[in-house]
Amino acid sequence: MAHRFRGKIVVVTGASSGIGRAAAHEFARQGATLVLAARGRQSLEDAAQECRDLGAEAVAIPTDVAEEHQVADLVATTTARYGRIDVFVGNAALFVYGLFEQTPTEAFKRVVDTNLHGHVHAVKALLPHWQQRGEGTYVLVGSIQSLLSAPYQSAYVTSKHAALGLMDVLADEHQGTRIRFGAVLPSTIDTPIYQNGANYTGKASHPLPPTVSVQRAAKAVVAQALPSSSCRACSTASPGPQSRSSPSAAARTPPTATSTPRRTTRTPPTAGGSRSAAGSRARCSG
Ligand SMILES: NC(=O)c1ccc[n+]([C@@H]2O[C@H](COP(=O)([O-])OP(=O)(O)OC[C@H]3O[C@@H](n4cnc5c(N)ncnc54)[C@H](OP(=O)(O)O)[C@@H]3O)[C@@H](O)[C@H]2O)c1
Repeated sequence: MAHRFRGKIVVVTGASSGIGRAAAHEFARQGATLVLAARGRQSLEDAAQECRDLGAEAVAIPTDVAEEHQVADLVATTTARYGRIDVFVGNAALFVYGLFEQTPTEAFKRVVDTNLHGHVHAVKALLPHWQQRGEGTYVLVGSIQSLLSAPYQSAYVTSKHAALGLMDVLADEHQGTRIRFGAVLPSTIDTPIYQNGANYTGKASHPLPPTVSVQRAAKAVVAQALPSSSCRACSTASPGPQSRSSPSAAARTPPTATSTPRRTTRTPPTAGGSRSAAGSRARCSG
């Protein structure tokens, strides 16, 4: 195993579950020092311990990315402790199911606060540090729904499109520098996000096959963090990376990467993880 991140300081948000947790493991295997962030303290500590078991130095810093001061504290605490941040993986996200008119405005805003403003807060805190150092890499974990529509997911799709737009602008504004902004656009992966999401449809939700493994998504995140990555937005949907330089081609990709409320099972509306940490949860099989 090549230790391509030996000596690198890597922050991963949403590191207590799913893709973020698997990406943290992958960075740990490749020699990185890890700072893990999410809201739930215990599951985050568990993830940090798993990274230490893989031989990496890892700390957990409970953080709600929707709160600007908490993200500023995450960046300040990390730079005070390690002197720098080489890679920041903006992975934390929430899901909400419901037709637009079923989705309470507060739930919609909470998704946008996390999935879009979480990145705004992070980049605001990181840029002075990276501009002083002259380098830094931001990896957005977007979604194939950063490019596509999906009914019942207006807040999620809105937030994912907007976050990718933000990354595009930031990449343009830093072209020719060593401050890099890239994105990974996973297709469907069987993680707890589908169960933890708020659901106003009255129907149970589940990821629609075909799914890709969480390890594949994690490897794509790590690959995007490498200085040699030449792809601005890489999808896990196809065998090879899709380049953001041909957005119209990407937009014609069949919408395999989606999820839907199951039509048969009736369930009461839930606010899911949109209001608080989802807590300790099973690791996904992928
Ligand atoms: N699963 C898929 O099919 C799929 C497909 C495409 C893209 N993605 C993207 O992949 C990323 C990871 O998703 P996943 O499927 O791995 O989801 P997941 O298993 O539900 O993990 C989400 C992570 O985000 C954290 N989180 C949620 N809200 C947060 C907040 N406000 N502040 C800090 N952390 C927060 C959660 O921990 P706490 O609840 O403890 O805070 C958890 O660690 C997301 O950006 C998602 O949109 C997923």
